[in-house]
Amino acid sequence: MKHALSARRVLSVAGLAALALVPALALAPRARAQEGHEQGEEHEQETPLHQEMEGMKDALKDLANQLRAPGNEEQELQDLLVMERHVLAAKVLEPANMDDVPADQRPAHLTDFRRDMAKLLGLLSQLELAVLDGHPDDAKNLIAGPLLDLRDKAHDKFQKEED
Ligand code: HEM
Repeated sequence: MKHALSARRVLSVAGLAALALVPALALAPRARAQEGHEQGEEHEQETPLHQEMEGMKDALKDLANQLRAPGNEEQELQDLLVMERHVLAAKVLEPANMDDVPADQRPAHLTDFRRDMAKLLGLLSQLELAVLDGHPDDAKNLIAGPLLDLRDKAHDKFQKEED
């Protein structure tokens, strides 16, 4: 009898615990979405790569603005650091159109994607040196020429058709 009671007690405790979890689980997706908004995340439906790219775009835009006037070197370096971090996160991911490429060409496609990511990181280092050396015009030319060129060509190769 004693055993039966304690077993029932255990069961009811487990039942209560399970019940307590239900609202938590039901709320979880909403809480996650909320968290995303609180962090200024507007692309929660997008792929992880897309999110890194959006972060890169925002930092690049700010960098270009900062370069319009002298004396903003600290912020320029900060923007470059943000971009570099996004590239580090993006380079271990896969291109968006991987599934559209025939299976036997996928390894080469991934290598090409990684090569362009490595080039991007190299360009960001060059930009960093231009800022550190006090050559804002070199930085602007690197953005207007090689950086945007690399971006556009990479997007042609690696974005999904409907993107
Ligand atoms: C400074 C350079 C870059 C910037 C600012 C940039 C920015 C962006 C932005 C804003 C998007 C979102 C879609 C759009 O608006 O077109 C995007 C998507 C994408 N970018 Fe970049 N990008 C850069 C370089 C690159 C490079 C070098 C690669 C490849 C090695 C790349 C691969 C992709 C891919 C695959 C997508 C589609 C992601 C998805 O939807 O899953 N991007 N990029």
